[in-house]
Amino acid sequence: MPAAPFLVRPAREGDRYPLAELFAAVAEERDGIATEPPVDLEARAESWQLAWIWVATAPDEVVGLVHLDPSRFGYCDIALAVAREWRGRGVGTALFETGIISARERGCHKLCLSVFAHNTAAIGLYRKLGFVEEGRRSKQFRRQSGELWDSVEMGLLL
Ligand SMILES: CC(C)(COP(=O)(O)OP(=O)(O)OC[C@H]1O[C@@H](n2cnc3c(N)ncnc32)[C@H](O)[C@@H]1OP(=O)(O)O)[C@@H](O)C(=O)NCCC(=O)NCCS
Repeated sequence: MPAAPFLVRPAREGDRYPLAELFAAVAEERDGIATEPPVDLEARAESWQLAWIWVATAPDEVVGLVHLDPSRFGYCDIALAVAREWRGRGVGTALFETGIISARERGCHKLCLSVFAHNTAAIGLYRKLGFVEEGRRSKQFRRQSGELWDSVEMGLLL
């Protein structure tokens, strides 16, 4: 697929609602992220810690985000989502690389994440960027369907 033009930059105030809409759209898929619908767009828009978010933008839209969540203990959680129609074009890789560089610059010693065990696209991306599997949580997430999904814990020392 030809490279699509997108830009990665720090999130800013005007991104709050578009980010919430992107998050809600990915939640609607009920497959990649833990949150399922309904998403309260206003509450979600208000809740973003913008200083720890980077967005991928195409000319007129936010098409992806990476979010760091620093702990008091030196490690930092990282989360990623890309709009469905923008997947497979390198957006996730560019965002995640930005997250890794930013976490290092801010003094985090380790990045951590949880991913559903069936999420082969995300796990493939994380492995490609050096994350290693540190464990598996069995039947960790109860879904609205009643299913219980395993998650895989992954980490990257910075
Ligand atoms: C996971 C996700 C962020 C990947 O974003 P993306 O923009 O499609 O990723 P990229 O195009 O940069 O691809 C990066 C790598 O992912 C891996 N990958 C992507 N799709 C894959 C697939 N279907 N199967 C296996 N690996 C895949 C590959 O390693 C790929 O690298 P390569 O192209 O050099 O081989 C995206 O699928 C997404 O937002 N999914 C829904 C939300 C989600 O699952 N978030 C993660 C929660 S832990």
